[in-house]
Amino acid sequence: STGSFTYDPGFMSTAACNSSITYIDGDKGELLYRGFPIEQLAVNCDFLETCYLLLNGELPNAKQKNVFVDTVTKHTMVHEQMQFFFRGFRRDAHPMSVLVGTVGALASFYHDSLDINDPHHREVSAIRLIAKMPTLVAMAYKYSVGQPFVYPRNDLSYSANFMHMMFSTPCEEYKVNDVLVRALDRILILHADHEQNASTSTVRLSGSSGANPFACIAAGIACLWGPAHGGANEAALNMLKEIGSVDKIGEFVKQVKDKNSGVKLMGFGHRVYKNYDPRAKLMRETCHEVLAELGLENDPLFKLAMALEKVALEDEYFVSRKLYPNVDFYSGIVQSALGIPVSLFTGIFAMARTVGWIAQWNEMISDPEQKIGRPRQLYVGATRRDVPAMDKR
Ligand code: SDX
Repeated sequence: STGSFTYDPGFMSTAACNSSITYIDGDKGELLYRGFPIEQLAVNCDFLETCYLLLNGELPNAKQKNVFVDTVTKHTMVHEQMQFFFRGFRRDAHPMSVLVGTVGALASFYHDSLDINDPHHREVSAIRLIAKMPTLVAMAYKYSVGQPFVYPRNDLSYSANFMHMMFSTPCEEYKVNDVLVRALDRILILHADHEQNASTSTVRLSGSSGANPFACIAAGIACLWGPAHGGANEAALNMLKEIGSVDKIGEFVKQVKDKNSGVKLMGFGHRVYKNYDPRAKLMRETCHEVLAELGLENDPLFKLAMALEKVALEDEYFVSRKLYPNVDFYSGIVQSALGIPVSLFTGIFAMARTVGWIAQWNEMISDPEQKIGRPRQLYVGATRRDVPAMDKR
């Protein structure tokens, strides 16, 4: 037992590591960052406060917050050479392929001066990654639409700065809408960390060899891209568009139940949550707020998503399999309402999860007992002795 939590021995035998960053109770649908419930953080904190908490273990006081925000803000620009990496990509390259490439390229600017055994170097790497991800995500978007890159501004908050870099042009400055910026900040909080999910495990495993943290985060981005993981928000919105209308829900659910169809209810189900993902509830509320602010309360996709959720939660097939909405079910709708293109949804997820990845990486690297990860296997192949001559094969 670890303090107030007791794990069954069976669980501990499969646990990948000890961690004090994030706790999930999949049966109760609970999520805690450093012991605080996600519902509290999403309402009472902003994203950079949450970043400070995940990295340092405590929420910042006013002075600590000012120093942290100022430090992150002053690292939001990327090296001028970075713009030339983008030119190698096709304009229609998926933003996640661009992010894997450009975040990995960041390593080339810091590798020689970075000693991962130095806590200060690890702290600066964390700040650089948190600060530069919005800039790179926005650059990937600008490159895809053929608009010039927009430099970050030091007078804007983290999320407002991202919206500025996404939607300002040399001809017109983005007008900050506080409700929309607050919604984006909440989306980032909800995606910031999630225990030992596939991409975090990828970052930990690659980091355990002593690889450069920028390269490890690039590996995490590659893993997150998959539709079974972070790519589900893009897939969930495309699924809603394919269903099209409430009267087609029955037909779609029939397809999902037919195992041969290979059709999944995207944004539903989870490896750990066998109850409602607490982030999905908060995402649905954020959806309501943003759509109301924009006068889109009757957004057909939102109505369709809520109708589909109601049908699934009353259907034995999903109930018996403990399939509930996860963080990805509503996030696409609210991101669309913010003007973010579908192809960039997983990039936003990566932007948010960077703090979780780097906090988990740091926790691992600073453990003096830490060794390189080396999962084993159950060998089920043949064992043979003599290699047959060519004419005997
Ligand atoms: C994220 O790990 C994390 O923490 C990830 C994440 C994070 O913050 O990092 O939370 C983010 O990745 C959320 C998940 C996003 N992915 C999706 O929404 C894609 C759709 N979901 C599924 O692909 C699926 O639910 C998984 C991959 C998430 C989980 O798959 P599992 O482990 O197979 O789920 P399960 O064991 O609970 O499945 C039980 C049954 C199976 O059917 P039977 O063999 O019992 O007949 O439910 C079925 C599954 O086939 N099932 C689904 C389903 N999810 C599971 N059937 C239809 N639609 C689905 N979405």
